[in-house]
Amino acid sequence: MSDLRALGLVKRFVLGDETLEVLRGVDLSVRPGESLAVLGVSGAGKSTLLHLLGGIDTPDEGQVLFGGADVARMKGPEKARFRNHSVGFVFQFHHLLPEFDAEENVMMPALLAGWTRRRARERARELLDGVGMGHRLRHNPGKLSGGERQRVAIARALVHAPPVVLADEPTGNLDPHTAEEVEELFLGLNQRAGTALVLVTHNENLANRLSKKAFLVEGRLES
Ligand SMILES: Nc1ncnc2c1ncn2[C@@H]1O[C@H](COP(=O)(O)OP(=O)(O)O)[C@@H](O)[C@H]1O
Ligand SMILES: [Mg+2]
Repeated sequence: MSDLRALGLVKRFVLGDETLEVLRGVDLSVRPGESLAVLGVSGAGKSTLLHLLGGIDTPDEGQVLFGGADVARMKGPEKARFRNHSVGFVFQFHHLLPEFDAEENVMMPALLAGWTRRRARERARELLDGVGMGHRLRHNPGKLSGGERQRVAIARALVHAPPVVLADEPTGNLDPHTAEEVEELFLGLNQRAGTALVLVTHNENLANRLSKKAFLVEGRLES
C-alpha cells in the first residue's frame, strides 16, 4: 500500500474576468492506516481539495502522488484505473443511484473494478451487514431514511477495498445521534482495512479522533 501525498496544490476557478484562487499551495500526506481530518469554513475549498485528491478534478499547479504516479497528470485509462481501483468516495449527499436497490448500488464500484458479479454481491452483502443494512438489500434509496442512505453510501465506498478513502462531510446532514453511530462505524471499518483516509468534517470532536487534523485557511492547510 502507498502513501497519498499532495505537493503544492493550486486550484483556480475563472468566472468572467474574476479568478478565484481556492487552493494556494496545499501539501499533505496520509499513510496507509492513517486518517487526516480537514476542517474549514464553508467555501474554504475542502470539497475542491478532495476532488483533486480523488482525480475527479485537476489542479492548476502541484502534484497528487499515489503509488509513484502523479494522479493529476494521469490520462484516460490510467486515471480511470486509479479512480475505479484505488479510491472510495463518500459524498455529503449520498449520490446513490435512485433506480437501483441498496445491494446493486454497493456492488457498482466492485463491478467497475472488474470483479465478478458473484464476488461483488458477496462482498456487498458483507459490508451492508457490517453497516447494519443487511435487512434492506432490496430497498431503493428513495425508500431509505437519510441515515440509512449514508450507511449504504459508506458500504459502497469501501466495497472494492480501496487503499484510499475520501469522505466529504459524510455525516453532515444527519441528526447528531445517527451521525455519531455512522461515524463510529466508518472509522472502525477504515481502521480495520488499513486505508489512508481523508475526512472533511465540521465536527472537531470527530476530527480529534483521527490521526491528524488540519484547517484549510485561505487556500492553505494549517495544522
Ligand atoms: N466549479 C466551480 N466553479 C467556480 N467556482 C467554484 C467551483 N467549485 C467551487 N467553487 C468555489 O470555490 C470555493 C470553494 O468551494 P468548495 O471546495 O466547495 O468549498 P467547501 O467544500 O470548503 O465548502 C467556493 O467559493 C465555491 O463557490
Ligand atoms: Mg464542501
